[in-house]
Amino acid sequence: MSSLDSYKRELEIQRQARRVAEAQLEDKSRELYQKNQALEAALLQLKEQQELLIAKEKQASIGQLSAGLAHEINNPNAFVQSNLESLHKYVFQLTDAMQVLLSKIEDSDPRFVNQFKHNHDLDFLLQDASDLIQESVQGSQRIQRIVQGLRYFSQTDQRDGRQFDINSCIHSTVELISHEPELQVRINKQLSVLKDCEGNPTLMSLAIGNLLKNAAQSHPRSGEISIRSEQVGQEIRITVSDDGDGIPLDQQPKIFEPFYTTRQPAHGLGLTISQAIVRQHDGRIECSSQPGQGTDICIRLPTAP
Ligand SMILES: Nc1ncnc2c1ncn2[C@@H]1O[C@H](COP(=O)(O)OP(=O)(O)OP(=O)(O)O)[C@@H](O)[C@H]1O
Ligand SMILES: [Mg+2]
Repeated sequence: MSSLDSYKRELEIQRQARRVAEAQLEDKSRELYQKNQALEAALLQLKEQQELLIAKEKQASIGQLSAGLAHEINNPNAFVQSNLESLHKYVFQLTDAMQVLLSKIEDSDPRFVNQFKHNHDLDFLLQDASDLIQESVQGSQRIQRIVQGLRYFSQTDQRDGRQFDINSCIHSTVELISHEPELQVRINKQLSVLKDCEGNPTLMSLAIGNLLKNAAQSHPRSGEISIRSEQVGQEIRITVSDDGDGIPLDQQPKIFEPFYTTRQPAHGLGLTISQAIVRQHDGRIECSSQPGQGTDICIRLPTAP
């Protein structure tokens, strides 16, 4: 064999060895890439679980705090409200009594009555006293509703382990909402067959109802809002959509914060309560909104094990 032939053979052997090495390298790179992908997925899952745990912890502390606050505020507010209602009745009775008295005096001395009313600004005092009491009663009723809202946080701690069908929850909530006179919109239901969910159907109805109310209050251009349910793998998705005002981008992170509101009269607690309930059911709630176009709010829940 000439030296050229042996050189060529040597070259071919080297080429083959390189091809094998390259193929091995490619296999290893693919394996590494797949492992990397799996690691990234595991990391994401861990992060999500960690977020959920932190959210649950926060929820528990808020629950404790709000239960305490609700109790402390509710008692004094209850007697303020009841006293104001009695006071309102007394003012009415005193006004009536004074009218009777003044009309008796008026028969013999009309000038005195006119002077007396004028000097004491009596007509204004009686009217304003009644208005002030009425406003205070309304204020106190508002406090009562806020306290009721706070109570839901503590109730979410007592989640039942009942299995229930979200679609029935949606039906009953829509039925309830459509009877509220101020919410005059059509509600379009698009419901798919769902697996059961585990938790408390009454609280879940409340969470869904808050989303429907918000959608109805968003001035939907079509006069219609929709609620859709779908099963995606092991996840149940409930989406409430409207083609109303939408939410400015910079406001979107704030909408779940307690007392954040752009509406009057409102408490800014609806979405906070819905989020608390959904988190208590190991789910999450997401908002996607285009200002001027409309809003989708999606509740994502795990199915019952
Ligand atoms: N579908 C929606 N379209 C437009 N804006 C919305 C929508 N849902 C929520 N928002 C905005 O998020 C804010 C907070 O909503 P949230 O339900 O928590 O409180 P609220 O509706 O203002 O008061 P409450 O529900 O306590 O009566 C609203 O004031 C509104 O600005
Ligand atoms: Mg609301």
